[in-house]
Amino acid sequence: MQKLKKLFYSVITLTFLFNVNLPVNSTEKEVRVYSGRHYNTDREVYKKFAEETGIKVRLIEAAGISLIERLKREGKNSQADLILLVDAARITNAAKAGLLQSVESASLENDVPFGLKDKRKEWYALTRRVRVMVANPKVVDVSKIRDYTDLADPSLKGKVCLRNRKSPYNQSLVANQIVNKGESTTKTWLNGMISNVSQPFFPGDISIIRAVSKKKCGVGIVNHYYVARMLAGVNGRRDALYAKRTLVITPNPAHVNISAGGVAKYATNKNEAIELLEYLASPNGSKGLAAPTFEHPLNEVNQNSIVKDFGEFIPDNVTVEDLGVNNSLALKLMKDSGWD
Ligand SMILES: [Fe+2]
Repeated sequence: MQKLKKLFYSVITLTFLFNVNLPVNSTEKEVRVYSGRHYNTDREVYKKFAEETGIKVRLIEAAGISLIERLKREGKNSQADLILLVDAARITNAAKAGLLQSVESASLENDVPFGLKDKRKEWYALTRRVRVMVANPKVVDVSKIRDYTDLADPSLKGKVCLRNRKSPYNQSLVANQIVNKGESTTKTWLNGMISNVSQPFFPGDISIIRAVSKKKCGVGIVNHYYVARMLAGVNGRRDALYAKRTLVITPNPAHVNISAGGVAKYATNKNEAIELLEYLASPNGSKGLAAPTFEHPLNEVNQNSIVKDFGEFIPDNVTVEDLGVNNSLALKLMKDSGWD
């Protein structure tokens, strides 16, 4: 009897220990994010999400293209729950490669406007960015530059700077023009614009802004937030001075691109991934991502005065899906025109 009593108490003690110790780890919810958004300020948004929901966010950051390659390589063994990418070309390519899965979410459908989400519900936009022109008024007549197509004008011979063909930002811009103006008009534009380029294609948008400022060329095409960040001094005093010597020209209507997110095909924490995606696409979440990076939230315009000075932008009606569909044709036309 004594022995039985001892056994009974030790079982009770073990059960107690089990209940106290195990749940802490086993019920701790988390979501693993593979992010191609390389902005430290995103961490603040993840922190708020974790505080509000108790779901821990584990962040794995990488540049966009290597992220897709990595996911392809990892396949079913991937740790990713939520995938965040910048640019229409990248997110639509990720979907095409079967790296995402569709989700049912009324709040995502409600918060993300038409044209900025996938018909198959595999990805949703989180922020918006405008492809603008940046010009040096001392080199070019800025009154004659209103649209991307104006960069094909023969008067700009040797004065146009462009980022290389690999950049998805430009691929999406060309895809946008194919949808807006048709293939043959886009070809003519590309041939004219590329013949105005007199120096090697640039590796990034920031180097274009610097070159325009230094009068190495007169006009280039960049995402608006790069100029805003330089003006705000995010990249240091020298870049702020460079940016001050340039003028941003926002075409009307303008090509608007996105950063977007989708739940990974093999997510182990699918519900948590949906919850985080919903949070990031919500008015507060989108604003939390976009405000400090000078991007635009999904349904509003960035209220920072630097961004406001770039002028009102009116998005054209090209959907992100259309940009994805026309990505390979865009690449072909760019190559044919000599865009390296
Ligand atoms: Fe960027």
